[in-house]
Formats: sequence, C-alpha cells, structure tokens
Amino acid sequence: MTAADDFARHPIDPTSQAKLAESGLRYETLDTDDAATFNAWARADLRGFLAAEPSEKQLEGMRASLGYRRTTGVWDDSAPLADEPIATVSSWPADLTLPGGSQLTSWAISSVTVSQARRRRGIARNLLEGELRTAVALGLPLAALTVSESTIYGRFGFGPATFAASFSIDTRRVRWAGPTPGGRVDYVGREKWAEQIGGLFDRVRVARVGEIEGWDGMWPRLAGTVHDEDGDGKKLRAITYTSEAGDLEGAALFKLEGGDHDYASHTLNVEFLRAVSDDAYAALWRFFLEADLVATVKAEQLAIDEPIRWMLGDQRAATVTTSDHQWLRILDTKAVLDARRYSSPGVLGLEIEDALGFAGGSFVLTVDADGVGTAEPVDALPEGSAAVRLRVDALGSLVLGGVSPAALRAAGSLHELSDGAAELAGRVLRVSPEPSPGIWY
Ligand SMILES: CC(C)(COP(=O)(O)OP(=O)(O)OC[C@H]1O[C@@H](n2cnc3c(N)ncnc32)[C@H](O)[C@@H]1OP(=O)(O)O)[C@@H](O)C(=O)NCCC(=O)NCCS
Repeated sequence: MTAADDFARHPIDPTSQAKLAESGLRYETLDTDDAATFNAWARADLRGFLAAEPSEKQLEGMRASLGYRRTTGVWDDSAPLADEPIATVSSWPADLTLPGGSQLTSWAISSVTVSQARRRRGIARNLLEGELRTAVALGLPLAALTVSESTIYGRFGFGPATFAASFSIDTRRVRWAGPTPGGRVDYVGREKWAEQIGGLFDRVRVARVGEIEGWDGMWPRLAGTVHDEDGDGKKLRAITYTSEAGDLEGAALFKLEGGDHDYASHTLNVEFLRAVSDDAYAALWRFFLEADLVATVKAEQLAIDEPIRWMLGDQRAATVTTSDHQWLRILDTKAVLDARRYSSPGVLGLEIEDALGFAGGSFVLTVDADGVGTAEPVDALPEGSAAVRLRVDALGSLVLGGVSPAALRAAGSLHELSDGAAELAGRVLRVSPEPSPGIWY
C-alpha cells in the first residue's frame, strides 16, 4: 500500500493549520461517513458555486458520489452557521494520461470555495498550499484541476495545459463530408448508458493525452438517472454506436431545446461524446448534424483539433471559441518529465523557478531515439547546451505537449538561454493530436 492509498486519512497540513488558527479558524478533514458533517460541508460548497439550497436527497447523492474523496473544510466557530465551513476543498488521486500513454497518478483538486463573507483574507491560499504540501507528502508529483476562472491558480504554480473548443454548428450549411460507417446508432435507456459509459470512457482515456480518470458516481449523475429532482435529466437522450462486428465503440448524451417560434429550429446540445474508433466518432456526429427539426448543434469541451471540423463540408458552418480547461501544477519535476514520452530526440537544459519551492532547480532532459526521456537534476546547466528558463506554471503548460514553447517565448513566459532552444523544446515536447481537454471535475 502506498501513502496515496491512505489519502483520505492523511493528517491535515500543519503549516496551513497553524496559519489559519492564528485567525481563530479550524482547518480539518472530515469523516464523510458522518452525514450531518458532510451535508453541512456540501451546502457550503454548493453555495460557493452559486447553486440553490440542496435537498436532503441531493445531499445524499453527493455523499454517495463524492464521499470517497479527501474532504476538507475551514470552520469559524463564531459564525451564526457554525456547522457550515467557511471554506471547502476536496482532493483525490487520479490517473492522468501523459504523452506516450503512461498514466501518472496526480492529485486532483475540486470544490475550492471560500464563503463570500470571508473572501480575500488568504484563506484559499492556505487551502491550496495545504493541498500541494499534502500531495507531496503522499508522494504525488503533479496536481491538477479544472477552473471556474483563469485568474486564480497561476500564482500557485498551475499552468493551463489543455484547452477546450466550443462548437456552434449551423446544420443548414452542413454537407456531410465525413465517412459513412457501416455500424449502427441506437437510442438506449439512460440507465443502461450510465452502466456502459465508464468502461468505454476508460478505453478512450488511456489512449488520449490529457484525459483524467472519472469516478463511479460521475456517470449516473451525468446521465441524470440519480438525484435529479428538478427533472432536468429527463431532457437527456442517450445513444450508442455499435460496429458491424457488434462491438460497442461510442456513446453520446444530448439534449434538445428551443424551437419555440419555429419548430424546425431546435438546438441540439451534445453533452458528452466519447468514441474508441473513427467510425463511431463519425457516425455519432452525423446523427447529430442530420437530425430533423434541428438548426444548431452545440458542443463544448472538444479538442482544439477536433476532427468534426473536417466533416462539415463547409467549415464556416461552425463557430468555434476556445478557452483553457485543465491546469497542472508540477510538484516533482524529474518524476513528471521521466514519466512522459517525447516526440523527438534531443538534449534540453531547463532552469525552473518555483516560488513555493517544490519543483525548482536545473535539469538536463535527455531524450533518446525512442522518445524515452530522463531528467537529471544538476547544480548548473552545462556550458553551451540548448537551454530555457521558465517558471513552474509555464512548465505545467508545456508538459502535456499541447502548448508551443515558441509562443511562450514570444509572450515572455519562457526565456531562451541559448538561441533556438524554444524551437528544439517544441520538437521534443509537442504532441499530435492535441491533448484532450479532459472532463470537468
Ligand atoms: C476563488 C476563491 C476560492 C478565492 O478565495 P479567497 O480566500 O478570497 O482567496 P485568497 O484571499 O486566499 O486569495 C489568494 C490570492 O488569489 C487572488 N484571488 C482570489 N480570488 C481571485 C479571483 N477570483 N480572481 C483573481 N484573483 C483572485 C487574491 O487576490 C490573492 O492574490 P495574492 O496572494 O497574489 O495577493 C473564492 O473567491 C471563491 O470561493 N470563489 C467562488 C468559487 C470558485 O470560483 N472557486 C474556484 C473553483 S476552481
């Protein structure tokens, strides 16, 4: 058993605990088997994300789905709602797919909230730094999260590493230009879909850079088959793609809305789509784009180089916007650099600056002809070597291969210590296809 297996019971970070105690605040992990304590924590979490007051049933569902996580709060015992923490965070080890397909167990962080009544007093800083020290204590080399705002996490050493594209497609302009697979698309019940999607997702996940592990409770929640009191789940439809050989190769979930003034102008929102084959991908998308009574197909969290663009016949049928999605924080530079594979051989010096002191230092990354790399810590970079200097957040952006070192150089986030080093870094680090944005968590 590794330290990470015992993550939920690992002691609270003493440094943040002492700092918060100076302001009279109690910083503790909670026992999620205790429903009353968990529910108070969950109410605070939901309030922080502007959600409505939850019902008892919703809280029960949250505990069943999220109770396995390390669940931490900060309490102000003098507050009127003293049982509700004034700050929340949860975390758990999750595998992230790196270039080359290796799985790196990372510290996933979620539910970061501080009560509106206690903000901008350094509470989130203590939570985040506490989480990073806890991950290090558990032996995990990388922390990961998806963000509500892109302005918060850079200061803690996180950099955006995956990017998401949102597509809005005018289906009246589409002339299908993709393949016509021989398998079949079928409607399936949402319960059945929720049972099947976890296994299918895992097959996609391990083959796609940037995908992070899901959790058991995620699928029924996504399909709206549990704790769906407002009935929104009933708007969802589930489909699958089965190959000619009879294998399940793709699945999607979608919702229809609009059409109020013109029944032929509904919007079809693709809520989730994963496919293990090109055939499944094309067939599911074609199903959406050729749906009757639909004028617009929308989908979010697609990859930057999503193949669907090439299947539309008229690329301008799609309006595409992009944004950062998954942010990574390197905690152990050597462990992370050794874990991934590289696109080209080379020797690259890296001088990493880390204001929080976890991952800084000088490293020489040597990549062999098979794309296997080894990062050796050195006191000083060898004279005359191709080398770059960057902060740890920029290294977090580069590590999955979805960001161009030359762009970071132009933006002033990466400094060349020798001419041409950014281009070399690009050849060594970049991947194709682009990393998947990954799930929301
Ligand atoms: C984001 C949030 C957790 C910050 O909590 P907080 O206790 O006010 O943060 P802190 O006082 O510890 O601030 C730490 C630093 O982050 C900065 N910061 C905090 N929130 C910020 C925001 N929303 N945008 C930009 N900077 C922010 C602070 O200015 C401070 O900067 P400094 O250390 O360089 O001076 C809180 O505003 C919140 O709960 N927001 C709503 C829920 C949410 O969006 N959570 C994030 C989920 S990914």
